[in-house]
Amino acid sequence: MKKIILDCDPGMDDSMAIVMAVKSTELEVKAITTVNGNYPACVTASNALKVLEMLGRREIPVAKGMTEPMFRKTPKDPFTHGKDGQAENFLPDPVTPLSEKHAVDLIIDIVKAQPGEIYILSTGPMSNIAMAIKKAPEIKKMIPGIIAISGMFGLNHYAFANATGDTPQSEWNVFVDPEAASIVYHSGINLTALGLDVAAHFDVNLTAEELDRLGKSSRREAAFLRQAIRYVNGRGFEAYCAVIDCMAVGYAIDETLVEVFEGKVGIETKEGLTLGNTVVDYRHHHIWQELPTVKIGRTADYKRFLQLLMEIVLA
Ligand code: BDR
Ligand code: CA
Repeated sequence: MKKIILDCDPGMDDSMAIVMAVKSTELEVKAITTVNGNYPACVTASNALKVLEMLGRREIPVAKGMTEPMFRKTPKDPFTHGKDGQAENFLPDPVTPLSEKHAVDLIIDIVKAQPGEIYILSTGPMSNIAMAIKKAPEIKKMIPGIIAISGMFGLNHYAFANATGDTPQSEWNVFVDPEAASIVYHSGINLTALGLDVAAHFDVNLTAEELDRLGKSSRREAAFLRQAIRYVNGRGFEAYCAVIDCMAVGYAIDETLVEVFEGKVGIETKEGLTLGNTVVDYRHHHIWQELPTVKIGRTADYKRFLQLLMEIVLA
């Protein structure tokens, strides 16, 4: 079993990523750490607790993290995940307390307790992870991998058409805290960036029959996903919006789901039209040799990904 920390900003798709990770028999979730992003940190922390309570998994610790990006203010016009940040599923208020530790410290402590064993799944802005690396740089060598929903690499039309950041070609998680993303990309930790090219693909769409199975299931998490898809459809979006972050969990469970390639990537941290862009030097030009090399998602087996998602949600 792969041991993971899920660092997230729930968010409806982060909530589904929690469902998928916690219910997967291939993953052991050591903690959920939450960050400011889709919603303020107090909301994302509470939403993570709500999901765990829905799943009856209160023993998994949830720690609240960074309340702002490292050097900036939070952008003001995020895509709305509904009044509750969970596609208006309106789950009951949580009764489980948050961890007494700050998310940054919980990440450091868990990684140090089992060096070489803890993967980090990142489905929100990278503020917590970057701060953990800054506070305890020794953990860089102890983390076997980070799998992130991060960036857009211009590999297909969907990446551009579905760009989630406020600048025309950026992805939300990088756009919110580009300096944090840059720290993580430059950290030397084995990073797999699954961008909008694969995670926001229109082929991530459920059939009428699958929607029907979700609707008929007695599992609360199936009803959650059904409502999330209804919610995004009602706002004129495709179903992929409800499960973007699940692609990171899918890849953590089964790496053959996503085809990746290595590329040198820089992150734009200057204000303006391209703030938050993840820029790949496809030429391997000598001028840009210093850029960090990361693994980038090129394409995914969307059919198998959806099968896995359905299996886990309905289990
Ligand atoms: C990211 O933006 C957020 O709204 C989603 O939760 C996802 O992590 C995609 O760009
Ligand atoms: Ca997210």
